[in-house]
Amino acid sequence: MATFEKPKPSEGIPADLLPVIRASGVLTDRQLADIKSKVLSGEYPFDVKELGERLVHDKILTEYQVNRFLKNKSHGLVVGRYAILDRLGSGSMGRVYKAHHVLMDRVVALKIIAPEIVSNERVVARFQREMKLVGRLDHPNVVRAFDADQTGNVLYIVMEYIPGVSLGQRLRKGPLPVAEMIDYAGQAALGLAHAHEQGIVHRDIKPSNLLLGEDKRIKVLDLGLGVLMEADLEATFATADGIAVGTIDYMSPEQACGKDVDGRSDLYSLGCAVYHLITGRLPFPGESPIERLGKRISGKPVPLADVLPDSPASLSRVMDRLLAHKPSDRFQTAAEVAEALQALTRPRNKSGPVNVSKSAVIGQDSTPSDAPAPAPSPAVVKMVRPEYPDWFRPLAELAEKKPGHALAVVSGILTLVFVFGIVLGKLL
Ligand SMILES: Nc1ncnc2c1ncn2[C@@H]1O[C@H](COP(=O)(O)OP(=O)(O)OP(=O)(O)O)[C@@H](O)[C@H]1O
Ligand SMILES: [Mg+2]
Repeated sequence: MATFEKPKPSEGIPADLLPVIRASGVLTDRQLADIKSKVLSGEYPFDVKELGERLVHDKILTEYQVNRFLKNKSHGLVVGRYAILDRLGSGSMGRVYKAHHVLMDRVVALKIIAPEIVSNERVVARFQREMKLVGRLDHPNVVRAFDADQTGNVLYIVMEYIPGVSLGQRLRKGPLPVAEMIDYAGQAALGLAHAHEQGIVHRDIKPSNLLLGEDKRIKVLDLGLGVLMEADLEATFATADGIAVGTIDYMSPEQACGKDVDGRSDLYSLGCAVYHLITGRLPFPGESPIERLGKRISGKPVPLADVLPDSPASLSRVMDRLLAHKPSDRFQTAAEVAEALQALTRPRNKSGPVNVSKSAVIGQDSTPSDAPAPAPSPAVVKMVRPEYPDWFRPLAELAEKKPGHALAVVSGILTLVFVFGIVLGKLL
């Protein structure tokens, strides 16, 4: 039944839906009054479940909101000026929701930072400093941050909402085609170049922080949040079998050793992510996080050609430079990485790089390092001049430059031969 009586605190289905909705704060008094009058007039059903379905159908509430109301949960659906619409996912630092700014009628992604992190004042202060820098970022390959705020114990970041999937989610379907991934990695490198220019090091580049939009554009996620992760590193290592696994697998050796990092650390992490995304395997495999971490700090990655034998040698060279142990042996800037990756898919020429087939993927049709691959962009047609005998070359060159003149010369010669033949015939 839908009335305005107070909800019971239990988690069972409420007897009335409207009090729970009212307590949540997601609808205005006017909207609630409208629903109530529709229920009383019989336009809307009395039954709570049916009423919930109807409100979703009429786009007044989302399924996520109604599911919570049906569990008698009204709290947590309004954060600051934002109404929570749906849950997008969760990670080591908190939960991400799709939310709606009511006054501005803008849909955003809202990340609520885990309370354990928020309780560390030093970390929060560092985070707030970093957010000032993040607010300046404006690049097509970076998820924009609109706001970062704290209400009570809840620390949250408001970001541009990007419909799509993270490359981490995409990887669950299997490795990505090499050429596609090279394009995505090039875009990510451009986003990183912009962040590095503004003095921000990401510190947590991994497949789940590369968002693939429906327009095939890559956006780097969670810029500025790396400081939270670093500050929480001790706790992360302590629970190494859980949260930390994903993080350690993309971390640069200098970051793993707790040294100072710069943009080159992100380039290493990008290399680890690309390796994982095209092969489905980690560059430093091992049974436990500690074993994998040990290999990363002391050894070399499993060569790309060992796990992806058909991958082009030019790609292996780029990967080797991304995954170089010493930062000085890596690409020095993200812009250089973007350039090197873009060069891999440019059309092949005699002295140029080997390009990468669009279908190159592990276990499928892929491009051997020494075989020419179909060019992704239009072929360049080059004129090749045949070898002519010396006596014919002047005429051939004239035909190339002035075909009309050449035709006249040939006709003249033929006429002379013809006339000469007739005269000779008459004389004989
Ligand atoms: N701005 C956004 N727009 C759309 N979806 C987003 C956005 N930010 C995050 N998501 C979604 O939320 C999911 C969870 O993100 P989150 O950053 O919490 O997870 P994670 O990257 O695995 O972990 P963490 O970054 O905390 O280590 C992402 O995989 C993505 O699908
Ligand atoms: Mg993330």
